[in-house]
Amino acid sequence: MKTALITGGAQRIGAQITQTLHENGCNVIIHYRHSEQAALTLAQQLNSKRANSATTLQAELSDFDTIKILSDTIDNLDILVNNASVFYPTPVDEANQDSWNQIMTTNLMAPFFLSQSLAPTLSKKSGCIINIVDIHAQRPLKNHSIYNISKAGLAMMTKTLAKELAPDIRVCGVSPGSILWPENEAELTVEQKNKMLNKIALGKQGSAQDIANTVLFLANSPYITGQIISVDGGRTLNQ
Ligand SMILES: NC(=O)c1ccc[n+]([C@@H]2O[C@H](COP(=O)([O-])OP(=O)(O)OC[C@H]3O[C@@H](n4cnc5c(N)ncnc54)[C@H](OP(=O)(O)O)[C@@H]3O)[C@@H](O)[C@H]2O)c1
Repeated sequence: MKTALITGGAQRIGAQITQTLHENGCNVIIHYRHSEQAALTLAQQLNSKRANSATTLQAELSDFDTIKILSDTIDNLDILVNNASVFYPTPVDEANQDSWNQIMTTNLMAPFFLSQSLAPTLSKKSGCIINIVDIHAQRPLKNHSIYNISKAGLAMMTKTLAKELAPDIRVCGVSPGSILWPENEAELTVEQKNKMLNKIALGKQGSAQDIANTVLFLANSPYITGQIISVDGGRTLNQ
């Protein structure tokens, strides 16, 4: 029985990754920050299917010390999915140190230091790290420079750690295109959504299940490391 830690694993794409890994035989550690109720409900559902197969773990990942404390509580791990992320516009003339720190720590610092701290445990199990990147790691999304930079860093981190942690740990990535519309401060207008949909060769958004299936594929692919798979309905063909 493998154990997987999914950061931001209680909601949206993270919750689907959690459910899919669980359905395919993993025990899951569901990390959350604010979504306590969603995490507890999901863990309860999974434990009712298989006893003692899901636990929850709260942590603010923009804080370096918390990352270390979280890692110290885990002594058995096969799969680390770095999914938690923040996404909102930061036009260059409005960007400030707070937005830089919030986005870069959550999207880049946390995956790096979680990987570092959990590497000894993962290596004992010939484990893997799967980073949820973004197609905008390669082709920038206008007005989202800090987010784009954070994900470009995560793409490089995937490759550089794949080299450094081999042969004991594989490191791969999944780059979603448009999967679930952003919420709250990053919400799009109908026109913006239609403009985006028109750029997707397959003509529609993907689903969280599409991302979860690719995470599962990579987790079960012992001869793949350092690769990042785009799951974007052909959107990058038109960018
Ligand atoms: N949605 C898309 O179409 C899309 C497209 C391209 C790439 N992606 C990538 O796919 C992944 C999942 O996307 P999503 O839209 O499902 O993500 P999301 O809803 O924006 O965020 C996922 C989770 O990240 C956690 N999180 C945020 N900041 C945190 C912090 N400082 N410390 C700890 N946890 C924090 C939140 O947990 P709590 O709720 O518990 O606070 C949140 O539920 C992300 O890496 C995203 O960049 C998504």
